[in-house]
Amino acid sequence: MSDKLWIFDTTLRDGEQVPGCQLNTQEKIVVAQALEALGVDIIEAGFPISSPGDFNSVQEISKAVSNPIICALSRAVEKDIEVAAAALKYAKKGRIHTGIGVSPYHIQYKLRSTPEDIIARGVAAVKFAKRFVEDVEFYAEDAGRSEPDFLCKIIEEVIKAGATVVNIPDTTGYCLPEQYGAIIASLKNNVPNIDKAIIATHCHNDLGMATANTISGVQHGARQVEVTINGIGERAGNTSMEEVVMAIKCHNSIPVYTDIVTPKIYQTSRLVSKLMNMPVQPNKAIVGRNAFAHSSGIHQDGVLKHRENYEIIDPKEVGVDESTIVLTARSGRAALKHHLDALGVELEGEELREVYEAFLVLADSKRDIGRKDLLELVGKYMDES
Ligand code: KIV
Ligand code: ZN
Repeated sequence: MSDKLWIFDTTLRDGEQVPGCQLNTQEKIVVAQALEALGVDIIEAGFPISSPGDFNSVQEISKAVSNPIICALSRAVEKDIEVAAAALKYAKKGRIHTGIGVSPYHIQYKLRSTPEDIIARGVAAVKFAKRFVEDVEFYAEDAGRSEPDFLCKIIEEVIKAGATVVNIPDTTGYCLPEQYGAIIASLKNNVPNIDKAIIATHCHNDLGMATANTISGVQHGARQVEVTINGIGERAGNTSMEEVVMAIKCHNSIPVYTDIVTPKIYQTSRLVSKLMNMPVQPNKAIVGRNAFAHSSGIHQDGVLKHRENYEIIDPKEVGVDESTIVLTARSGRAALKHHLDALGVELEGEELREVYEAFLVLADSKRDIGRKDLLELVGKYMDES
């Protein structure tokens, strides 16, 4: 039997921290409503203490959205937590996400503190947040580079203090999938009260491992994943929601399911890209322009014979109408015939061979061959015959 995997979207918090991606409150509401329609379970709507605008956005999103839990970020600081709680006043289901750095780097150089003090501050923050909301998530910042026994200890203590979710961020995107999975496994095996909380993954993509690390975390017992649309986020970005959701959908061996309405993935990706003015790279998995485009002759022939020869996902499953057979100098005769048939020009044998030869000459001099080019090519040969 598979478990529910909670989808925590931080497009509007970690994603929106990216330079140039800032949204106004109205735009954030539009994104939050799209995330709700997509079936996201938790929306991290902002970091209310950071600015009056962010406070206002968390408050307005709380009013505008009903189903998902609305989450507000805070440091392990009473003032932050109070402001986060105030911003969540109208949320039907509100969560405070508070935490502190736990790696030797953060403890020594950022917080200039001691491990004992960090535990005390983490516990105090969770207890303080519990005065305002039942649902309190604790983040152990830079857990990916933390000392394992210390991580287990602080997680045990914050759960005792009432944390309902414990977030284990690979803040710097440092881990390899095996390492990240081992951190989650170590928490599962060594923290006596771990089953009282949900373990969350929160991976950054500095080494391009965010999705792999997240999946590894889930395979080792995490049941919440923190993700963004299109993988936007600090530096190289956060884990991309569409990649994790579809990886889980494609692999029954991962014993979880999500409630994401996958046919809405593509439109949500476009919306976020447009509003945040952040183009999606053409070869981006699932939502890139080329994710379902076939350009080499061998692949085109294969996919035209049977889609699954070269596609592991039906494009409709993620809201893309159909795969595309791109015409380039690498295309084969099958691809050309496919396009000609679509234009209502059914050529076979010698005629097709002649048009194909002319097509190759043209394609060598032009990157993309469009409808107009094809009509010209066919027109010429038709006229001559
Ligand atoms: O990457 C990180 O550690 C974070 C925390 C604030 C959750 O974004
Ligand atoms: Zn982060």
